[in-house]
Amino acid sequence: MERVTHWRHLLANSLVANAHVKHSSYFQLATVRKDGGPANRTVVFRGFVDETNTLQFTTDGRSNKIEEIHNNPRGEVRFVSFVIYFVEIY
Ligand SMILES: Cc1cc2nc3c(=O)[nH]c(=O)nc-3n(C[C@H](O)[C@H](O)[C@H](O)COP(=O)(O)O)c2cc1C
Repeated sequence: MERVTHWRHLLANSLVANAHVKHSSYFQLATVRKDGGPANRTVVFRGFVDETNTLQFTTDGRSNKIEEIHNNPRGEVRFVSFVIYFVEIY
């Protein structure tokens, strides 16, 4: 079973503490385009998948981010006061 990491607790606490700030649930999702360039956009954080470190967001299957993640699973997630590098995405 996946170990719940320290950063997950820090992020969860930060989100609770800033729940009154509307944009605190947004994060920037940066991916890598096919040409190697960066792509970055805002998405809404929809919580963690159960008791794991996996972040959830909803999107349209036709959006560029889907193909970019399939081509290259590296990227970065940045909340206003929090940054996470991901190497795998589902
Ligand atoms: C405040 C805000 C929240 C957004 N939330 C989402 C979201 O939850 N999911 C999503 O796919 N796009 C969301 N968008 C739109 C994305 O920023 C982006 O424009 C869109 O997903 C297309 O990106 P892509 O084609 O590069 O993947 C949001 C935009 C704003 C301004």
